[in-house]
Amino acid sequence: MHVSEFIDLRSDTVTLPTDEMLEAIKQAKLGDDVYGEDPTVNKLQEMAAEKMGKEAALLVPSGTQANLVSLMSNCQRGELVLLEAESHIYWYEVGGIAVIAGLLPWPIKANKSTFEPQQLESALRPVNIHYPVPSLICVENTHNRYGGIIVTPDQLEGISEVAKKHLLKVYMDGARIFNAAIALRIDVKEFTKHVDNLMFCLSKGLSCPVGSIIVGNRDFINKARKNRKILGGGMRQAGIIAAPGIIALEKMIDRLKVDHDNAKFLAEKLVKIRGVNIDSKNVQTNMVTFDLDPSIDCNAFLQRLKENGILALAQARNRVRIVTHRGIEREHVEITAASIDRILNRT
Ligand SMILES: Cc1ncc(COP(=O)(O)O)c(C=O)c1O
Repeated sequence: MHVSEFIDLRSDTVTLPTDEMLEAIKQAKLGDDVYGEDPTVNKLQEMAAEKMGKEAALLVPSGTQANLVSLMSNCQRGELVLLEAESHIYWYEVGGIAVIAGLLPWPIKANKSTFEPQQLESALRPVNIHYPVPSLICVENTHNRYGGIIVTPDQLEGISEVAKKHLLKVYMDGARIFNAAIALRIDVKEFTKHVDNLMFCLSKGLSCPVGSIIVGNRDFINKARKNRKILGGGMRQAGIIAAPGIIALEKMIDRLKVDHDNAKFLAEKLVKIRGVNIDSKNVQTNMVTFDLDPSIDCNAFLQRLKENGILALAQARNRVRIVTHRGIEREHVEITAASIDRILNRT
């Protein structure tokens, strides 16, 4: 298997499957999942529903498709969706919410992690002939663009109360929801009980090569199955994707703590480096974002990092994002901190 010669900190999506996952792919019992006949997919979906405390689940190829299928299955075309202005759905999913789902995204800027219930209340306008009908609130957990920040169960409860009052549904883009659960040392159901439905990704910190799972009540998942088919996401012997997913749910969740510890360790090193502005308290899970002094050219900095064998991403003009994951060990973090210091202060 190809192993990058770089210390690749761009995302936890770069994780490679474990040997056990590759073996499970070879051994998987397969069937045609469009007919609902792949036993490995069925097993994974049952496990996911159980873990999340919901009735049913559906395997889809990607997080982006999971979000799109969920939007289509929660809403009617022409309706309005309240979401956070820095959310993945709004920023990075090519406008599928509008282009394909036919929905009006209504972005609300949060201070950090998610909006306050009263922000939602003020955004919800009274019924009026001029306004589209609101139907859904989306939250993202952990929040990618805010640097892996957790939306706590209390925050979700506040949002859910507003939703109930206005007869709206709540959907969670829980791409990294297990990171949130591990960081707060609580069962993932403490989050999921406050939302109607959600998705989470197998292909990020959990190390699977492909796949995300949508979870919700049976009626919603039946609609989602149909919408997945519309999008061309009906897969045949998808057990080869589900087999590593089963291992992910059984064995890869607890180890996310290692990634969080490495992220915190890096943040504490970065605090001491001149030219880096970071509040280490904001490093809650496996992401480290920091601002460079305005005099520093971010792209030139990332290029220098690359020449030192380290890959990271620019998240804004002067903001760098680093993500820890399986395959990144403490020594890689040490090397990264030392390289950043050298680039900024010693050359
Ligand atoms: C919060 C969040 N949602 C959704 C996605 C989309 O996942 P995928 O890359 O599998 O389409 C990502 C990907 O990074 C993400 O960070």
